[in-house]
Amino acid sequence: MSFVKLEICDEIAVITIDRQKALNALNKQVLNNLENVFKSIDVNQVRVVILTGAGKKAFVAGADISEMHKMNFMEGKEFSKYGNGIFRRIELLSIPVIAAVNGFALGGGNELAMSCDIRICSENALFGQPETCLGIIPGFGGTQRLSRVIGSLSKAKELIYTGKTIGAQEALRIGLVSAVYKQEDLLERALEMARNIADNAPIAVKHAKYAINYGREMFMKDALDIEAIEFAQCFETADQVEGMDAFLTKRTDRNFMNK
Ligand code: CAA
Repeated sequence: MSFVKLEICDEIAVITIDRQKALNALNKQVLNNLENVFKSIDVNQVRVVILTGAGKKAFVAGADISEMHKMNFMEGKEFSKYGNGIFRRIELLSIPVIAAVNGFALGGGNELAMSCDIRICSENALFGQPETCLGIIPGFGGTQRLSRVIGSLSKAKELIYTGKTIGAQEALRIGLVSAVYKQEDLLERALEMARNIADNAPIAVKHAKYAINYGREMFMKDALDIEAIEFAQCFETADQVEGMDAFLTKRTDRNFMNK
């Protein structure tokens, strides 16, 4: 039995974490299922992934506390490296991943959302890194990604040191999410955004993701060199010819072939 479901429709994959009795908490099996589902995505066919949680209450309520509470140093290190490996795979997947955060996104849940390219959420969403309340620290990337995502070291440190949670509107205000929707509209809005992205030249979107992701880990000079290479590679694609030809001939029926 898998706790992670995959549906693919019209070049958009929807991945749903479904372990509702534990608010979709990430135990090793869920992590393993998540890893396998992401590995199975054919990035030449799928153009955008949406990641969400099953039910109306939780996206993911964190790493599984009952599985962690007896861990020792070596097990803790292994668990962190395992989760970090999967989340890094998601972050570096060549196509965009949208997190549709439909409720609690705590600890590993917030860290999972932050490994996605874009986060949107429902009005009932609650975000936080409550690990210090449990006697640990964020172990799936939160100590590194939170400040990078929201662009405020002070706010990231405040959230991690206090362990306090924030609601959807505060998450929007600090830039943790891009938009807040009614819960019943969230998936449709995510699909709308995914369709919008999927309508654009897929290879260009991949080059943009690569330049943004790798560039932000470098010095500006080197990052701009990466951008120049990724920009240049677009000119070797049929889709660049199609996109510019459509503009210049005032055609609205652009047809990107992913070539
Ligand atoms: N791990 C394991 N089980 C969890 C869980 C978690 N992270 N979060 C919720 N559950 C389980 C509860 O134990 C409960 O199970 P039982 O019915 O068997 O008792 C079930 O899910 C429902 O939860 P609650 O009854 O607590 O629901 P609630 O609505 O009263 O509260 C909540 C919801 C505020 C999210 C609360 O469940 C909670 O605080 N959960 C823990 C959140 C947390 O601390 N997350 C961080 C984990 S550490 C981490 O993620 C480390 C890392 O970076 C890798």
